[in-house]
Amino acid sequence: MKIDSVRREYTYADLSRETISENPVAQFSIWLDEVVGTNTDDSTAMSLVTFGTDGFPQSRIVLLKYFDENGFIFFTNYNSEKGISIESNPAVGLHFYWPKLERQVRISGFASKTETNLSDKYFHSRPLMSQISAIISEQSTEIPSRKYLENQFEILQNQLQNGKPARPENWGGYRVKPEKFEFWQGRENRLHDRISYEKQGDVWLIKRLAP
Ligand SMILES: Cc1cc2nc3c(=O)[nH]c(=O)nc-3n(C[C@H](O)[C@H](O)[C@H](O)COP(=O)(O)O)c2cc1C
Repeated sequence: MKIDSVRREYTYADLSRETISENPVAQFSIWLDEVVGTNTDDSTAMSLVTFGTDGFPQSRIVLLKYFDENGFIFFTNYNSEKGISIESNPAVGLHFYWPKLERQVRISGFASKTETNLSDKYFHSRPLMSQISAIISEQSTEIPSRKYLENQFEILQNQLQNGKPARPENWGGYRVKPEKFEFWQGRENRLHDRISYEKQGDVWLIKRLAP
């Protein structure tokens, strides 16, 4: 298939220093509301970038579950590849891409484990079957077969007999405290708008960047 001519023009909106919020979390909230309102699948999905212990950067998609001034929260297995990477280097990147709105947002920050009561609350808000999967999956480790996974699932399901499982200690949230943001809005003729925020003490320094 010929892909070198695959391209489109971006004309949906613009982004200016005059209309953008002084606060990046408020600006993120405006954009997230807008994309969630379009009913696009996985609009809360973000690429999480970590530094692997082998020195290579690694990215994978996770779902954003909460955010506020204190940080951006996702949930995972603390013993997974990403968990191990974060423990050795808490500097991470978050990256959202919303093609329908021709937007991307990039966030850099430091990740740390959330309070256990938030992890408990979120764990138990998930469907029971997802809770069982989270418990039996030693995320990112090698397993012998698909059958093995399904057996582990069935064994725990039978043991529980519809009882409520406890959250495993190795499953919970990470909160990414942001240091930098970049908001990107696609524009016509590739003259895109890019506005960045960088934390300087208690204030956010705002800059327009060349596309
Ligand atoms: C749309 C989507 C949402 C996902 N959400 C999560 C999530 O919230 N938490 C998670 O641990 N993995 C999630 N995953 C799976 C991860 O991308 C990844 O495969 C898994 O966490 C293992 O990553 P690691 O081996 O780099 O630690 C999601 C995948 C997709 C495609």
